[in-house]
Amino acid sequence: MNNKEIFQSQGYLVLENFNSPESCDAVMQRGEELANAFNFEGHPSVFQTTEQAKTTDDYFLNSGDNISFFFEKDAFDEAGKLKSDLFHSLNKVGHALHDLDPVFNAFSRSSQLKILAHELGMNDHVIIQSMLILKHAKIGGVVDIHQDASFLYTEPKSCVGLWFALEDATIENGCLWAKPGGHQTPLRSWFKKKEGGGTEMQILNDEPYTMDGMIPLEVKKGTCIVLDGLLPHYSLPNTSGKSRQAYALHTINKNANYPKENWLQREMSLLKGF
Ligand code: FE2
Repeated sequence: MNNKEIFQSQGYLVLENFNSPESCDAVMQRGEELANAFNFEGHPSVFQTTEQAKTTDDYFLNSGDNISFFFEKDAFDEAGKLKSDLFHSLNKVGHALHDLDPVFNAFSRSSQLKILAHELGMNDHVIIQSMLILKHAKIGGVVDIHQDASFLYTEPKSCVGLWFALEDATIENGCLWAKPGGHQTPLRSWFKKKEGGGTEMQILNDEPYTMDGMIPLEVKKGTCIVLDGLLPHYSLPNTSGKSRQAYALHTINKNANYPKENWLQREMSLLKGF
């Protein structure tokens, strides 16, 4: 089977040695620079998918077209002071790194990615968001099971994620988990703006997620994992002494309908592909 056929049957595709170790290092170094230059006084947001209500603040809703910083849930002590240094208190950085920062832009639009997009038939796909996921040693928290299409809803469904291991991802440091063929399943929910402000998770199908057959996607630094927007996936907390940085891009088909209720709003005509 070729890459497109494997992707279509499994719902994901693992491509080893996709990025050089040097390009992974460049992205991690740039991420740390951006984080250390960030002035977090008065920062309102704490991002954890287990506590969706907390993501309703304006900081999150306004992060689509800039570079915003999201803290780990337990980053602050009771007095509101960071328990660790700033960089090691952050959960992720997003959501327009690929459009605003030259280092992230180069990584997001590499020649091998252009070839892959063509191979997978994604010529009409545009990059709508990017995230640097830090998952620090002993600190990085759980990401509950979800489908990416819930957060980037289109009609027809078109969301495809690209997940790049910037460091080795293992069971111990919180690699991705998914089930081969798991994408042949309905979209469970739609994370959307609520009338009158804030966000809500609208249930579209109450079929429960089944955890049977989930396998850990342990991969080496430089690996690219392509994820179908309907593939349920999750990651466990990083309990190890090694960090598990990853960079993720999410793409949609520019010809699909992108509802105005979606939490993330960008000027669609300005979005670019690879
Ligand atoms: Fe995801």
